[in-house]
Formats: sequence, structure tokens, C-alpha cells
Amino acid sequence: MNPQYYEIMASELERIELISNEMLVLAKPQAKSLESVDMVKVLKNVVFLLDSQALFLNIEVKLEVAESLMHDCVESEMKQVFINLLKNAFEAMPRGGEVTIRLKETAESVYVEFEDQGVGISPEKIKELGKPFFTTKEQGTGLGLLVTNKIIKNHNGSLDYESELNKGTVARIKLEKQNAASAEVKLAANVME
Ligand SMILES: Nc1ncnc2c1ncn2[C@@H]1O[C@H](COP(=O)(O)OP(=O)(O)OP(=O)(O)O)[C@@H](O)[C@H]1O
Ligand SMILES: [Mg+2]
Repeated sequence: MNPQYYEIMASELERIELISNEMLVLAKPQAKSLESVDMVKVLKNVVFLLDSQALFLNIEVKLEVAESLMHDCVESEMKQVFINLLKNAFEAMPRGGEVTIRLKETAESVYVEFEDQGVGISPEKIKELGKPFFTTKEQGTGLGLLVTNKIIKNHNGSLDYESELNKGTVARIKLEKQNAASAEVKLAANVME
């Protein structure tokens, strides 16, 4: 057989694995418990993880965070959310640029913002965000924001977008401090909405 076919088969298998892993997050009820997590540490880890990709894409990631900020969450899930949003920011900037990540808190909430200088999202497309398989990317599965939204909802949070075409996008996560504890019930029951 032509060796080129092996390459195609391998890369398609990789894609299948990626999709099925994301499906598992959506479908499988997993026993998870909330822990007090340093969000700054998680964000720094994620930036470190995608550092070589940023360098390759000519992207500078700026972290505007305090020394530490503790919040009750499932660390692995929050990490997945941050990875998905940071990757979307990268993928929106084919010619490079800056991504600014901000972590803020008020008495009631914790906010995490991912601001890019990318292609932006039109108002019509903003409505489509998070629908299964909605993607504008050749290599995209269109599951990133579906998984992201579900995790954030299960953590009693919300995700909002502000965007201007060819200027950039801000993805803003809001997590309620008050209700963090009740998120545990949702996480355990794996409530689908
Ligand atoms: N920061 C952003 N700037 C511009 N467009 C965005 C941004 N984030 C998301 N989008 C748009 O939303 C679509 C859906 O995003 P989503 O993360 O769900 O899937 P994807 O990135 O295409 O694929 P993947 O499953 O690999 O994440 C993207 O294809 C893109 O068109
Ligand atoms: Mg994505």
C-alpha cells in the first residue's frame, strides 16, 4: 500500500480519538469533587503548556493576574476550559499578535478574560457559538465551546463574548463564588441542560 495512506490513516485516527475524548467529557458521568484551586497557578500552567505553540505562531501571551486567587472548582475541567479558550484565541490570529488573560474578582464573582487581536466573530456567528460541530476551521471539530460551556455551567458560571470583526474578541468567564458549593451537586449528577 502507498505509505502516504498510512499517514492519512494515522492523522484521521488521531482526529477520531480527539472527538471521542471530547464526547466522553459530555456524556460520561464522573465522580468529581470541588477543591480549592489557585486559578493563577492553573492559568500559568496552561500558558506554559501552549508556550511553544505561541512562539511558533508569533503570539505573545500576557497574564494580568494577582499573586494568587483561590476558587472552588474541578481543576482538570477548569484547565480544559482555559486550554480551549486560549487555543481559540491563537487560532483567530494567523498572523500573530497578543493575547491578554485577565483574572479579576469582586465580592461575588471571579472573572477570567481571554482577549485576542484576531479575526473576530460576526454577530450572526456569535449566536452559533457552542452549537455542536459549529466550526469555521478546516481542522476544527466544533466541540471546543460545547465542552467549555458545559463545564462552566456545571460550575455555576457563564461565558460571554464581545467581538469586533478584524479587531479581536474577548471571551469572558464569570464564576459565582456564592454558588460554588452547589456546583458540586450538578457535577456529581452530571446535569445536562
Ligand atoms: N477567539 C475567537 N475568535 C474568532 N472566532 C472564534 C473565537 N473563538 C471561537 N471562534 C469561532 O467559533 C467556532 C467554534 O469554536 P469551537 O472552539 O467550539 O470549535 P473549533 O475551535 O472550531 O474546533 P475545536 O473543536 O478544535 O475547538 C470557531 O470555529 C470560530 O469560528
Ligand atoms: Mg476551539
